[in-house]
Amino acid sequence: MTNQHEDGTLEVIDRRTGRHYELSIHEGAVRAADLRQIKVSEEDFGLLSYDPAYLNTASCRSTITYIDGDKGILRYRGYPIEELAERASFLDVAYLLLNGELPDKAQAEDWTHQVTTHTFVHENVKRFIGGFHHDAHPMGILVSTVAALSTFYPDAKSISDAGHRRDQVVRLIAKMPTLAAFAYRHATGMPYAYPDDDLSYTGNFLNMMWKTTELKYRPDPVLEHALDVLFLLHADHEQNCSTSAMRSVGSAHADPYSATAAAAAALYGPLHGGANEQVLRMLEEIRSVDNVPGYVERVKRGELRLMGFGHRVYKNFDPRARIIKKVAEEVFEVTGRNPLLDIALELEKVALGDEYFITHKLYPNVDFYSGIIYQAMGFPVEMFPVLFAIGRTPGWLAQWEEMLEDPEQKIARPRQLYVGQELRHLPTTA
Ligand code: CMC
Repeated sequence: MTNQHEDGTLEVIDRRTGRHYELSIHEGAVRAADLRQIKVSEEDFGLLSYDPAYLNTASCRSTITYIDGDKGILRYRGYPIEELAERASFLDVAYLLLNGELPDKAQAEDWTHQVTTHTFVHENVKRFIGGFHHDAHPMGILVSTVAALSTFYPDAKSISDAGHRRDQVVRLIAKMPTLAAFAYRHATGMPYAYPDDDLSYTGNFLNMMWKTTELKYRPDPVLEHALDVLFLLHADHEQNCSTSAMRSVGSAHADPYSATAAAAAALYGPLHGGANEQVLRMLEEIRSVDNVPGYVERVKRGELRLMGFGHRVYKNFDPRARIIKKVAEEVFEVTGRNPLLDIALELEKVALGDEYFITHKLYPNVDFYSGIIYQAMGFPVEMFPVLFAIGRTPGWLAQWEEMLEDPEQKIARPRQLYVGQELRHLPTTA
């Protein structure tokens, strides 16, 4: 690294040896590899930084998403999330994340055309979805079928070819809703509804979910818009668990379908994208507003966590949660009020006024209200992480491409501190 953008140095004194070192600071960070020069002897490996769960380690330099967790700021390519939610569509945002700029009119038309003409999946995909048990979790089906897509597109292995990469990017963004809806239809025993290219990205997804005997499915415009905003709010969130999985698997030069399957698998976890499903289960368990104080007490005793609360990065408020709360009102105008909303509002009120939550900086996150909206729209809880995955796909892909194009990136391979047995030997046989 050159000293061009050095914004200072860090002086280190190693008390073990009395030696002084000067480490460069760039963009507010020291390079962990610079610590390696700090040794007690020539044979010493050099100092490592120990950071389980990457609490204070930047794994890349990125131009995609900016978050200020203390101020509750989220921006994609510099644009505030609030403005994008107000004035752009999910596909505009997908284009922005991937290309760095919002599309002009012609680019938007071309991009929409590309995505909407790649929504079909090979008929064989239906056959292996058919092999899943009737109550298979749709997220398990999604993870498996996304991975399986790699076998249909051998050109996906050409990850150094920008043209081939873009082909897979379009296919992945286009086919995720199809796989998601097919997974749902399988669980309900409904025949698969094929994509309708006349509809918007989100309208087509609703068509594949809910179409029955009507000749043409017409999505409710309020619900179509609400879901589009929800996808947009989930589109990227810098180096979260699933994105890190995407980068990590992609760094081994796996094809993007396999890397996306790995990212989706990470998202499935209840501490990540599985949280909105858990929020709904929690609200159902609480059952009534009267039970809220008792539940909060259990959380404070450490018996359980308040799902949909807390965030590794946001320590003030989650800006996505604010927008979602507004979207909820629009949706309930159409669907009627979800009775769980009263429990959620009470929980939020009690928690936000409580010393434990204030001192631990725990606020509602994106998942707290999204589940209530999804449920009001008719999605079963199992589909919630699947919806998150559809929204997050452009972000995963933008981060994957950025990683591949970054000359500093190599195969991801953390170090460890070995704390196991010293050398020992098997007992000699008598
Ligand atoms: N309810 C009660 N206490 C909590 C919660 C919670 N939801 N979250 C954190 N804490 C407490 C935790 O017990 C610990 O307390 P103490 O210091 O007294 O031991 C302290 O706050 C710090 O917790 P942590 O686990 O070290 O924090 P983290 O930054 O590692 O965890 C989190 C972040 C999101 C995993 C966590 O807040 C959590 O489990 N939340 C519930 C699950 C959830 O809603 N996840 C969705 C995240 S947003 C969508 C996404 O990006 O995936």
